Amino acid sequence: MNNTLLTGTMKVNEQNHLEIGGVDTVTLVEKHGTPVYVYDVFQIKEKARAFKNTFAVRGIKAQVAYASKAFACTAIYQLMAQEGLSVDVVSGGELYTAIHAGYPKEKIHFHGNNKTESEIVDALNYEIGCFVVDNFNELDLLQHHAAERNQKVAILLRVTPGVEAHTHEYISTGQEDSKFGFDLLNGQAEKAVEVALASSHLDLLGLHSHIGSQIFETQGFLMAIDKLLTEVTKWQKTQSFDLKVLNLGGGFGIRYVEGDQPLPVSEYVNTIIDEVITQTTKFNLAMPEIWIEPGRSIVGDAGITLYQTGSEKQVPDVRNYLAIDGGMTDNIRPALYEAEYTGVLANRANDIATETYSIAGKCCESGDMLIWDLPLPKREQNDILAVFSTGAYGYSMANNYNRIPRPPVVFVENGIDYVVVERESYADLISLDRSLPQG
Ligand code: LLP
Repeated sequence: MNNTLLTGTMKVNEQNHLEIGGVDTVTLVEKHGTPVYVYDVFQIKEKARAFKNTFAVRGIKAQVAYASKAFACTAIYQLMAQEGLSVDVVSGGELYTAIHAGYPKEKIHFHGNNKTESEIVDALNYEIGCFVVDNFNELDLLQHHAAERNQKVAILLRVTPGVEAHTHEYISTGQEDSKFGFDLLNGQAEKAVEVALASSHLDLLGLHSHIGSQIFETQGFLMAIDKLLTEVTKWQKTQSFDLKVLNLGGGFGIRYVEGDQPLPVSEYVNTIIDEVITQTTKFNLAMPEIWIEPGRSIVGDAGITLYQTGSEKQVPDVRNYLAIDGGMTDNIRPALYEAEYTGVLANRANDIATETYSIAGKCCESGDMLIWDLPLPKREQNDILAVFSTGAYGYSMANNYNRIPRPPVVFVENGIDYVVVERESYADLISLDRSLPQG
């Protein structure tokens, strides 16, 4: 196999099996079945530390908030808390999980373009660290509930800076025509600052912007910083607005397939730091704390999915389909975004690839294809396919289409594996169903 695909602790062992976290993937499959999501804990920690350390080395006040939408479960919240990261949650469910995982409440940031009143009240009850306010409706609700409790609530305003990062169009959030945030160009953001500053129950710490996903260069971040700080300079004069926090969101890219060339974490972070220093100096602003929200780049390439291969369909002169025992239920990204992945036969990792297979999921839908035209050795019954870089937006976007139960999540580290999310059972699938009334 192409060894450049192996990240963190992944390697091919003496049995010619793919190994991760010191554990043989064939053993993992024997123990936990397939499909199964497997995470290299070492690699998650390395990434989390790389983000934190880059700020620390530069002596910059910062918060690195793990964007938990990328992969949320009790154990990952506990791991991120251990690593001293903050966390970004976007729903009552993520908030609940973080709180029940024991996340320090002051390190929780609450995002979302339509936080419900009950979600807002829950978050106020938990006394979380910060709300990232998305719109005027939320500003009103928050102000109302904070006043009722005589609480002072720390907020950032999510601003849409009109910067389009180079990314797949479905996952861009930085353009003007976006459902997220207060628009910078049409004056909404300025108005929101005015409203927030006028409230004695809101403590406006600063601004937030998120320009997109799977970003491979730094230009978009630089443009966003420049636009935001230009406005902040105006508002400092007109509204005495004091920017204490500048949150630049997430979106740092990872490698899914060979052609992907993300920058090292330190390069994204150092470029952001340099630009904030340059621009604040130029505009004579105090240096704000820099907050960021990496999701994919912390957990994405630390995760793999193991499947058992099953049926093959040959379409003469067209292609060979090889089906696996999962698909768009555990990884909807290829169907939704035409996302590309690559993989190997984990039980024969270094065997020569002599064939080309297109990897099909088992859902009743032609679009349920995981990988097109993957070079592999000739198939044998019950081969194990390992798909790389499935750690972000795989489990978190998993679903029960065709009533397929969701796979378990297993963490591996130093030769030890443990389940952090159990496999869903058929009984789980019907546990919320209720029968028709009798008679
Ligand atoms: N902060 C905000 C405000 C966000 O909206 C997002 C992602 C992040 C941080 C984390 O971005 P990351 O570092 O993970 O790229 N389901 C899509 C990705 C949607 C991302 C939405 N927001 C996918 O599977 O690619």
